[in-house]
Amino acid sequence: KGLNDYAKKAGLLYFGTAADIPSSGENTDVAYQRILNNTHEFGQVTPANAMKWDATEPQQGDFTFGAAEQFLGFPTSNHQLVRCHNLVWHSQLPSWVTSGTWTNATLQAVLKSHITTLVQHFGTRCYAWDVLNEALNDNGTLRQDVWLNTIGPAYIPLVFQFAEEALKGVKGGRRIKFYYNDYGIENPGPKSAAALELVKGVKDRGIKIDGVGLQSHFIVGGTPSRETQVQNLQSFTAAGFDVALTELDVRFSNVSDLSVGGGLEQQSQDYENSVAACVDVKRCVGVTVWDFDDKYSWIPGTFPGQGFGDIWWANLTMKPAYDGVVAAL
Ligand code: XIL
Repeated sequence: KGLNDYAKKAGLLYFGTAADIPSSGENTDVAYQRILNNTHEFGQVTPANAMKWDATEPQQGDFTFGAAEQFLGFPTSNHQLVRCHNLVWHSQLPSWVTSGTWTNATLQAVLKSHITTLVQHFGTRCYAWDVLNEALNDNGTLRQDVWLNTIGPAYIPLVFQFAEEALKGVKGGRRIKFYYNDYGIENPGPKSAAALELVKGVKDRGIKIDGVGLQSHFIVGGTPSRETQVQNLQSFTAAGFDVALTELDVRFSNVSDLSVGGGLEQQSQDYENSVAACVDVKRCVGVTVWDFDDKYSWIPGTFPGQGFGDIWWANLTMKPAYDGVVAAL
């Protein structure tokens, strides 16, 4: 028995992980792959990079799906759900997008082409799509990126509309769940409130949007309590949205001192609180950890000096945090 087995028993649809297939380390690491492909542990997978814009449309109109197909070769063979990630984001954009000279109309055409091509290419192999990722600043205002600066706030409903229109070309496509996904929205506050307004704005226009993904990148000892997370999740479900914890990890702020923040026991408690909050909320469909082992974690590369945020150590033995997840399920 593993995390996905326990999650399903607790009423969730899946317990999942992100993975960086294809990537030099992960691709040849048999011990890693044995865990990744174990459907007792993971019933769902998310490509950490393989479906992002820089990987799928590196030059305008030149679509490259090799990496994504390699990724899908793993889960499909094992009947794992795939949360496809992502269609529109400010980051990991190729320079032809960020330094192009666009008008509102030409950039809309770029979005429409990218979204339509990916939605139709991957079809129902995607259980869900993160249609829009990280559109908000921490204070709840809209992030100043190429999309907002060129198209204005109208780009937000538009990208969901393009995704919905693309489903006409996908048999059974309406079952694919469309999500808005962001970090820092796991606590009630200005950013969480703005995320709720954002998704309501799309829904109120009659455009398909099914859920809110709460990334849940936490720091040991700084994770919101179970009650706080439940209350926050319910603010979204009360408005008719599904929710999911999409990128859960709980990192140490200083890798050279694992007692800071409360140590491994607190990390375990933080995982338990987060997973338990999802279990407590009826429309919380599942939990995904963003990398399951420290060996391939994205954290040290993005937050220098921080790390050890995952539930397996780099040597692929389980941390107390693994038991924290089990305790919540
Ligand atoms: C990260 C990947 O894990 C890294 O490999 C990459 O270098 C940067 O992006 N929020 C997201 C994810 O939505 O796409 C990010 O993934 C982590 C933060």
